[in-house]
Amino acid sequence: MTSSITDRYAVIGNPVAHSKSPFIHAEFASQTGQQLTYTAELVEIGGVANFVEQFAQQNGKGLNVTVPFKLDAFQLATRLSERAQRAGAVNTLLIQGNEIFADTTDGIGLLNDLTKNHQQTLKHKRILIVGAGGAVRGVLEPLLLEAPESLTIVNRTPSKAEQLAKDFSGFGNIIACDFNQLEGKQFDLIINGTSASLSGELPPLPDNLFTENALAYDMMYGAQPTPFMVWAKQQGASQVHDGLGMLVEQAAESFYIWRKKRPETQGVIKKLREQISQ
Ligand code: ATR
Repeated sequence: MTSSITDRYAVIGNPVAHSKSPFIHAEFASQTGQQLTYTAELVEIGGVANFVEQFAQQNGKGLNVTVPFKLDAFQLATRLSERAQRAGAVNTLLIQGNEIFADTTDGIGLLNDLTKNHQQTLKHKRILIVGAGGAVRGVLEPLLLEAPESLTIVNRTPSKAEQLAKDFSGFGNIIACDFNQLEGKQFDLIINGTSASLSGELPPLPDNLFTENALAYDMMYGAQPTPFMVWAKQQGASQVHDGLGMLVEQAAESFYIWRKKRPETQGVIKKLREQISQ
């Protein structure tokens, strides 16, 4: 690490070389006229606390945290936002002297992508979320606060879906089920929050789940449509999107936490889309 008078930001992960965050934040900084640097830092497992201490001493003002350090970051925080406490995970650290404030912006990132970029309203909708891992836990609260008619969680390991439904029952109508129980049900929005797409797999979803004008959303993204997106199109979903917009929107929310400026996101999403399809 080199020291500098410019405010420093970074994403920490292992691996981290693939991260799009340096590109996104450089775009945000130039757009809003902010002087800062943002790098991707490979941190060794078990080395997060040391890294953050050094980073703070060298004008480090904020971090994004990715796999496998979300729990370390949670434990390192001296103060947690309420939504981070409930999500049980953090992706954004704000370093202020000896204080480390931690927040999670994934949920609001997904919500902004759905509502702003894809013009969806979630009120009175029937939503299905597939998966019950950390990624799903992080997005439940903002989705439920939009007052959907119901939010159903289905997971390969049903006990995890049941736990989430219990933990978030105070925020709205949230139901857990297993894949067999989906037979005959229909949804206006189906979100894939599993990591199945990473291994080219498709969760065992039955046919005829989509209502007319339904939207399918994969929280993953890539150069090619994910197996879930291909399936959704075949099943007649009228809109099918990947999580690239969510990535940029969660970054915008982190940027706001650090710099109190709201960057424009649509142009950045477009540029990233071009980059990843090359
Ligand atoms: P993340 O932080 O990305 O959420 P995670 O906590 O490991 O990662 O959760 C991964 C999620 O994807 C889980 O819901 C997992 O199901 P299990 O809880 O049954 O393990 C789900 N998942 C992964 N691969 C899957 C597959 N091939 N089919 C269905 N679900 C899958």
